[in-house]
Order: sequence, then C-alpha cells, then structure tokens
Amino acid sequence: MELANDVDLMKLDTLIEEKYDNNQEALVMILQEVNAEYNYVPPEALRYVAEKMDIPLSKIYSIATFYKAFHLEPRGRHIISQCVGTACHVRGATRIKGKVEKSLSVKAGENTKDMRYTFETVRCIGCCSLGPVIKIDDDVYSNVEQDQVDKMLEKYQ
Ligand code: FES
Repeated sequence: MELANDVDLMKLDTLIEEKYDNNQEALVMILQEVNAEYNYVPPEALRYVAEKMDIPLSKIYSIATFYKAFHLEPRGRHIISQCVGTACHVRGATRIKGKVEKSLSVKAGENTKDMRYTFETVRCIGCCSLGPVIKIDDDVYSNVEQDQVDKMLEKYQ
C-alpha cells in the first residue's frame, strides 16, 4: 500500500476511480469523504486529487476553503463541540467550557497534544432547552454538569 504522509493513496484511487468514476463533478463529494476519513483534508490528498483528476490545485483549494465543512488543518480523532449560544450560556456553558479546557489542557479551537480531541465552540446545535450542551462526534450530551465532564471524555479513545 502506497502511503504519503499517512494518506492512503490506494483508498483514494478507489474512491476517485471506482466510486466516482473520475467524474470532476463529484469533487465536493470526494473531498467530503476525505474529510470524513481523516477529520480534515490533508494537503497531500488535495494535491493527489488535483493530479489524478486533472483539476487545477488552485480550484480544489478554493472549493476546500469555501465550504466550512472542510478543514485544512489536522484535527483530533474526536471532535468536541461545546455550545456557547445564548441559551447554553445562561445555563452555565462558560463553566463547562472552563472544565473541558482544564481537563484537556487546551483552549477552544485547539487539539490535544496526543490528537485525541479537538475542542471547539459552536453557536447553537438546536437543542437550546437542554443546555448546557456538548456534542462529541455524533453524541449529544445535555444538561451537562462540571463533574460529568471527565467521565464523558473518557469514553472516547
Ligand atoms: S444555544 Fe446551545 S443548543 Fe442552542
């Protein structure tokens, strides 16, 4: 298996050639799948897709930077999204945020050193009456208390 800085080129080939038949119109979907696989779009993957699909790298970069769903910097294996919207704020989101930052030794927007977690804040995830709310990967935690945070984090290796 050919590897370039941890990007599985064989898998990328299969994605581009077999799943999407080298169709340039599928570029966003290909980038979405790369983003889902690595939790970001590695630059090696962008270059490889550009070369393989004969699309200018500048065009791929502009698409990757246009969509907020794509991340161009490495992210942790687990994404912690702490809601700091108004409803969660009045229900104590600041205290929970402080607890997560202390437990992980990071500030919002950072990855832990071991790349286990990325901690970020979001404005609202749509369940305001249940705040404070934290989403870890696809799991949503509601009415979070400070003393629940460490146990919650431990579940994600
Ligand atoms: S404000 Fe936190 S979920 Fe809406």
